[in-house]
Amino acid sequence: MAYNLLKGKKGIIFGALNDMSIAWKVAEKAHEEGAEFVLTNTPTALRFGDMDVLAKKCNAQIIPADATSVADLENLVEKTMEIFDGKIDFILHSVAMSLNVRKGLLYDEVNYNYFQKTLDISALSFHKILQVARKKDALNDWGSVVALSYIAAQRSLYGYNDMADAKSMLESIARSFGYIYGRDKKIRINTISQSPTLTTAGAGVKGIDGLLDFTNRMSPLGNATAAECADYCVTLFSDLTRKVTMQNLFHDGGFSNMGMSLNAMEVYNKSLSQEERENK
Ligand SMILES: NC(=O)c1ccc[n+]([C@@H]2O[C@H](COP(=O)([O-])OP(=O)(O)OC[C@H]3O[C@@H](n4cnc5c(N)ncnc54)[C@H](O)[C@@H]3O)[C@@H](O)[C@H]2O)c1
Repeated sequence: MAYNLLKGKKGIIFGALNDMSIAWKVAEKAHEEGAEFVLTNTPTALRFGDMDVLAKKCNAQIIPADATSVADLENLVEKTMEIFDGKIDFILHSVAMSLNVRKGLLYDEVNYNYFQKTLDISALSFHKILQVARKKDALNDWGSVVALSYIAAQRSLYGYNDMADAKSMLESIARSFGYIYGRDKKIRINTISQSPTLTTAGAGVKGIDGLLDFTNRMSPLGNATAAECADYCVTLFSDLTRKVTMQNLFHDGGFSNMGMSLNAMEVYNKSLSQEERENK
């Protein structure tokens, strides 16, 4: 059901690659709620992904940009302001990539060139987007910027690798820039810390199937889906959350506040007793 929560609002959505992408679901939901937006991704993603389908569905224009390139971001913001004949109201940063993860290099064996790329793509790009938007005065007062994060920013999770450091940096940028942009323009900046989700990026995380099962068993409300994440993003872009800023907001069915659940303990005990039986 749509509520017209984003009627009249304009924005930029980074990171819709295919219909599993969280950004894809956000675009669909934002469109349903009355928003107009530009879609952006890297030229490579535009070649291999399905963004044309989404653009058609949402009546959106696509402007290619590598989120690590300030020149690309300047072009993106300028062209977006031309399209909408003025400022915008929201930005979604749904961008991440680690070559160390992709190439299966472990955290104590990372390649440092790849590490720097991870930080640039997955965290520093957020700062670059904010800095470009601010310099070009692209966001209306009371605008809203959201980036997607993961609990590995606070807790050690096996296999998340250098992406954990990138997410810590991403959340820190939301706080640091959130103060400045909030003070000057009343613009709010938040990160949403989402449950593990089966997407192209998610599938790259080591042991994702077991992880999805574990977090689902641990969370009283179960894992949050990409579509549910899109619902949450829409509320943060809407005027209903005007005083929420500089926060890392967990959207994970309660996982982040759990230590052990009955559901997880039952499975753990079952596998323990099986191991005991096998050892006898
Ligand atoms: N899937 C999960 O389990 C999960 C959980 C928590 C947070 N997140 C975060 O959600 C966000 C979206 O990921 P997703 O799961 O939808 O996967 P996805 O693979 O669909 O999206 C990642 C996007 O990043 C884009 N990208 C990569 N390098 C880029 C660059 N240099 N410039 C611009 N775009 C670039 C890709 O083209 C892709 O569209 C990421 O920040 C991810 O870390 C995902």
